[in-house]
Amino acid sequence: DKSGHRHFMAKEMAEQPAILKAALGFYGVPNSGISGLPEGVDFAQADRVILVACGTAHYACHVAKYWFEQIAHVPVEIDIASEFRYRAPVLTAKTIAIFVSQSGETADTLAALRHVKGKIAQTIAVVNIPTSSIAREADLALPLHAGPEISVASTKTFTAQLLVLALLSLKAGVDRGRLDAKACDQHLEALQTVPGYVAQALDREDNYRSIAEILAKHDDVLFLGRGLMYPLSLEAALKFKEISYIHAEAYAAGELKHGPIALIDKNLPVVVMAPRDDLFGKTISNMQEVMARSGKIVLISDKAGLNATGGAEYTITLPAVPSFISPFVYSVPAQMLAYHTALARGTDVDQPRNLAKSVTVE
Ligand code: M6R
Repeated sequence: DKSGHRHFMAKEMAEQPAILKAALGFYGVPNSGISGLPEGVDFAQADRVILVACGTAHYACHVAKYWFEQIAHVPVEIDIASEFRYRAPVLTAKTIAIFVSQSGETADTLAALRHVKGKIAQTIAVVNIPTSSIAREADLALPLHAGPEISVASTKTFTAQLLVLALLSLKAGVDRGRLDAKACDQHLEALQTVPGYVAQALDREDNYRSIAEILAKHDDVLFLGRGLMYPLSLEAALKFKEISYIHAEAYAAGELKHGPIALIDKNLPVVVMAPRDDLFGKTISNMQEVMARSGKIVLISDKAGLNATGGAEYTITLPAVPSFISPFVYSVPAQMLAYHTALARGTDVDQPRNLAKSVTVE
């Protein structure tokens, strides 16, 4: 049942504020403060945290790496499940590994979990389906509470994964004495504002549609971001390829001049994700390098960011939010630009060619 939406993807994107609110409730965030953080794991003695997943779930892990390092000061490794189990990852009795999967059945992620089980301190599953193999085989399973996701493209489960990983990074911060009760409360308060901000970001459909109609006329699109916006750019490019069939690539904005800048000309749209945070000035100077070579810019920022910069041909204004929660808000344009571009191209949004919702073979 698409509840009046044209596609399951549209319905699932629209559900995000309600799901995030409900998930915050399930994890006891509104009232219980620190005691509401996920139980059954203690990061105090961990020598490292390893996050393993595929596709969109991997990009959620990539965001989490920044959170864990900043908030808990713990060494973090992230890897794609299909690579992780064929290299020789260094595992110790103090390692905690987190496996993130919507379906809980992705073959490579499950095999990676089996590869480390018994060799490390603890395995944690962050999954949408609580009865799945990954949930059952991990030492601790933390559900997303996102409800069934029908569209092949992951949307609401991405933001729900971010939420559980954000809570885990706060838990790690508290366990390791890096986050006191007051600072933890501030982060939890910020998380409680996420559903409202995501709703505001969703409420820009005309803006997404009109920019998508321009992107739909191109064969390539480049996404740029720094810091937390780098994994968001990767996720935006994946969504774009997956459902619009337009070639898209993402780069950390600072990498541009190490090669990809050679691609820039007036025919290449470049989507820049740049909230007004500590890295804003750096990202904007990379954007100006693109403009100097006639690249077509779509700048996604907040009001202050857009006021501080001129020259972007197209803009999307998002609410200004604390940097910690910006990945939730910037997930919306990542999804919406892909969705409306797919609509403009007439592709099969919910069932993109060659893809399956759950990849249970290697
Ligand atoms: O079920 P999983 O989360 O383990 O699936 C992993 C990927 O196949 C998945 O995230 C895929 O990249 C998305 N459906 C893309 O939108």
